[in-house]
Formats: sequence, structure tokens, C-alpha cells
Amino acid sequence: MVKLLIRNDLPWPDPILVDHCNYIEVSGVQYYSNTYRRQGMRQVIVWLMKSIHLLGFARAVKREMVGLYKNLSWYIRRDNTLASDGLPYPPPRLCFIVSGNYDPGYFFSSGANGAKSIRCILERNGKQISDFQNILDFGCGCGRIIRHWNGIQGIKISGTDINSLLIKWARKKLKFAHFRTNSLFSRLTYPDEAFDFIYAISVFTHLKEELQLWWMNELTRILRPGGFLLITVKGEDKRSKLDSADVERFDSGKLIVVEAESSGSNYCAAYHPDSYVRNVLSGNLTVMEHERSGSKDTGQDFYLFRKMG
Ligand SMILES: C[S@@+](CC[C@H](N)C(=O)[O-])C[C@H]1O[C@@H](n2cnc3c(N)ncnc32)[C@H](O)[C@@H]1O
Repeated sequence: MVKLLIRNDLPWPDPILVDHCNYIEVSGVQYYSNTYRRQGMRQVIVWLMKSIHLLGFARAVKREMVGLYKNLSWYIRRDNTLASDGLPYPPPRLCFIVSGNYDPGYFFSSGANGAKSIRCILERNGKQISDFQNILDFGCGCGRIIRHWNGIQGIKISGTDINSLLIKWARKKLKFAHFRTNSLFSRLTYPDEAFDFIYAISVFTHLKEELQLWWMNELTRILRPGGFLLITVKGEDKRSKLDSADVERFDSGKLIVVEAESSGSNYCAAYHPDSYVRNVLSGNLTVMEHERSGSKDTGQDFYLFRKMG
């Protein structure tokens, strides 16, 4: 069989992709590209790291180095550009903690998308964001979503998070809202029935079961009768990320938590079957709507609950 090495800058012929890593085959001829060769090398390195149990460590080091570089160059450039909402962008490192991406532009546009998704599900349930008086963003990070409520008249906006670095930035730069820090596992300092709308975007996805149940209870305490709670979870559409044993448990209605010991950080990942949310997590709240992949920025499912009066 003839094997050709083709250059990246040449167009591919109409390919039949037989092996997505190494080559394409056209009329019985295998074409290898430089890109695919590089990917092959990358796979060898990943395999090597995996086999000596260093993959996680190597990835963490790479992430930190990239973060350090992006942050440093951001500070050196003294990048004070404002986003189109007239508010500053957070430094790349903070963007990464909340969105998994160092790019402040991505941070801004994904937040705008997230805020739009929230407006949509509320509207379908007869509510506008401006109908509420007291809104809480639980696990608000550095205000990726909150900043998009700036300028709405007549509402008080609060945010709370366990990460004091994120809250410090938000407090300093997003003056229109009120920020607090809380602990991973302790009562919030807000009084009973303080809020008529609470949302938690990509927060329950990073908590072990005991914490999730505890926080649902706590958020229910500070929600007014008639108020709404919106959370996101990794549901059916994300189940393909699980290994086959966990898929089976997920399909039997069990909550799956990967790296439960890292609860509160992005290393912990929880996957929620619909029946688990409805029968266990919802507690005393009523499910108003479940929208699969409803949160357009995270691709996670929305659950909108209501505390009946
Ligand atoms: C993936 S980030 C999402 C941040 C923000 N909700 C957003 O959409 O940009 C998860 C956030 O949840 C916060 N978090 C995790 N556990 C928490 C808890 N028990 N209480 C408050 N915040 C928590 C983390 O510190 C982090 O900022």
C-alpha cells in the first residue's frame, strides 16, 4: 500500500475518515498528515504519563503554567479594557476558575449567554428578572452572570461564594451588587425567606451528595414562599462522560459523584439522573420545569423549582 505524507496547508481530498487519529483513506490509499502525526505523538505522551500515574499532575502543572503566563502578560500589558457592558474583565486566572477558560472575552460572552438562558426559562414560567425584589446568585464566582443584571431598576442583587479571591474581585469591581463569602458546609448569614429568586449555575455539579442535600435545604430556608430556585446539573446529555459502570448506576437513578473528596472545586463532578432530582434533591420544592441542556453557556440541565406558599 502506498503511504503519503501530506502537508497541512494542502486541502484534504474528499476523505473517508477511517482512523481519526492517524490517517485518512481514499481509494485504498492512506494519507498521513503532519497534524495527525503530531496528535499521535501527543497520544504516546498521554499514555506514558497515564501509565506512570502522572497524567493528573502533568495536566495541573501545564494548566498552572499557562495560567501564570496569561495572567502575567495580562498584568504587564496593564489591560484595563472594559467589556461592552462598561464593566472591567476579571484577570484570566479568575476567568479560568469559573469558566474553565482563560479568555476574558469568553468569560463575558458565556456569562451573557447564561443570563439570557435564565431570562428565557423565567419568561416561560411567567416571570421577568425585574419582577423580583431580592436575587441571590449562590456560588457566584467573580460575577460572570451577575454583571448582566446591572442597571435593572428596583432589584437588590447579592452573590455569595466560598472562594474569597473571586469575591474580593467582584466586591471591588461590581459595585452595584452585594457580595459575601460562605463556607463549603455552613449556614448562610442571610435571614429566613430573604430572597424571591435564587440561582446556582454549575455549583451542585461540584458537590458530594451530603453537601447537595444540605445546601438545597439551606437555600429553601432563605427562599420566600412563592419564590423560585434555579439550579443546573449534568443530566442525561452529559452521561456519556461517565465510565460504563457509572452509566449503569446513573441509568438506575443513582447520583454519580466523581472525586467527591474535592467537593467545592471543579475537580469534583456530579451527574444527576432526572428521577434523583425529582425524588430526592428537590426536597420540599416543586419542580416547575426541567430543561435539558437549558443553560446555554454550560450545556447543563436547568431545574426551576418553586417554594409553594
Ligand atoms: C464552575 S464555578 C461557577 C461559578 C458561577 N456560578 C458561574 O456560573 O460563573 C463553581 C463555583 O461554585 C463555587 N462553590 C462551590 N461550592 C460552593 C458552596 N458550597 N457555596 C458557595 N459557592 C460554592 C466555587 O467556588 C465556584 O466559584
